[in-house]
Amino acid sequence: MDPIKNPFSPGAGSPPPELVGRDNILEQTRILLGRVRAKRPEKSLLLTGLRGVGKTVLLNEMERIAQSDGYRSILVEAHEDKPLAALLAPHLRRLLFDLSRVAGAGDKVRRGLAVLKSFIGTVRVTIGEVELGLDIEPERGSADSGDLEADLPDLFTALAEAAAERRTPVAILIDEIQYFSLSELSALIMAMHRMQQRQLPLVLMGAGLPILPGLAGESKSYAERLFNFPDIGPLSGPDSAKALQDPVREVAVEFQTAAIQEIFRLTQGYPYFLQEWGYQTWNHADHSPITLQDVRDATEKVIPRLDANFFRVRFDRLTPSEKNYLRAMAGLGGGPHRSSDIAVVLGVKVSSLGPVRAKLIKKGMIYSPTYGDMAFTVPLFDEFMRRAIPEVQTRE
Ligand SMILES: Nc1ncnc2c1ncn2[C@@H]1O[C@H](COP(=O)(O)OP(=O)(O)OP(=O)(O)O)[C@@H](O)[C@H]1O
Ligand SMILES: [Mg+2]
Repeated sequence: MDPIKNPFSPGAGSPPPELVGRDNILEQTRILLGRVRAKRPEKSLLLTGLRGVGKTVLLNEMERIAQSDGYRSILVEAHEDKPLAALLAPHLRRLLFDLSRVAGAGDKVRRGLAVLKSFIGTVRVTIGEVELGLDIEPERGSADSGDLEADLPDLFTALAEAAAERRTPVAILIDEIQYFSLSELSALIMAMHRMQQRQLPLVLMGAGLPILPGLAGESKSYAERLFNFPDIGPLSGPDSAKALQDPVREVAVEFQTAAIQEIFRLTQGYPYFLQEWGYQTWNHADHSPITLQDVRDATEKVIPRLDANFFRVRFDRLTPSEKNYLRAMAGLGGGPHRSSDIAVVLGVKVSSLGPVRAKLIKKGMIYSPTYGDMAFTVPLFDEFMRRAIPEVQTRE
């Protein structure tokens, strides 16, 4: 059928034709925003889930809700090798400029910029081409100790006081939070602790891989009292059916029930895969209704596409020993698997696998759902690994 009319949208962060099965989170978001605005305590929301479940899409939607609720917002994505201070500074500067345009008297915005300037001075952030552009003196003694755990709470406080003065709450949204170092995460948690104690109108919403709650708890034991970690999972059978059927019905096309059941079986309800199968099946089908046979034929195209895009980009960032570890895991099935079982497959002592396992966790390829267990962060990655490397390499 006409590819131009194809309603599906496979791709990182591409908004789906319909955001199915997330009403609960969106409702929690509205409550959080409403309570922070009313100076009532509420836990921040940090979404956790595997690759491709729809965290980024959801975070974008949460930002839209915040904005339509009168919040000023920034949305940033953490990277493996970018320090938190360098990442946030230019955005916080924009947020303060935004606030300076909101009507209202007072000098808290100016103070916020002065504190930001002293913060930037200590971490020596170069904001790329952007000059801070301020004929403002840094405020000595605020946010300039060089210790992020002390400085970030100071900076957030100055920003949030400016926000309170302009009666405009602010929202900070951070994607891929698991990439922050433990000390950065700890600083962020302490900053949010301060916001809650002082009832300041600054809200944090974030998303990350399932290692996030563990990391947060490790850096500050009281993290669980400050954050909710809703688990963003695959869609249920009925929700998957809706994610496929509703968008095509909009253009007077129909999936047969058997076709939908087959897509659900193949995708296990993972949103990225639902979009990809929906997309290819639509292009393959000649006319409505879309049949089981259409799905089967399209699958031959979907698998190589997923291998070449979704899986391959992650695979290519791995060293040979990392690949080998993942291949051994994949040989055991979808998982999670005991670390000791993986060692048995590789014919080595489990203790010798510590370093490679740590690197894979840092790269966001695997995580430990429970002590001693390892699981893939990318759904269906085991099947991909078995296609990519047919034989496990074991130590003789
Ligand atoms: N609720 C949903 N219903 C249907 N499709 C969805 C839903 N949420 C996300 N998708 C689709 O899933 C795909 C992946 O979404 P997204 O990039 O937000 O995932 P992610 O969890 O951020 O992945 P990653 O961990 O790789 O960054 C997109 O193509 C998107 O359109
Ligand atoms: Mg994402």
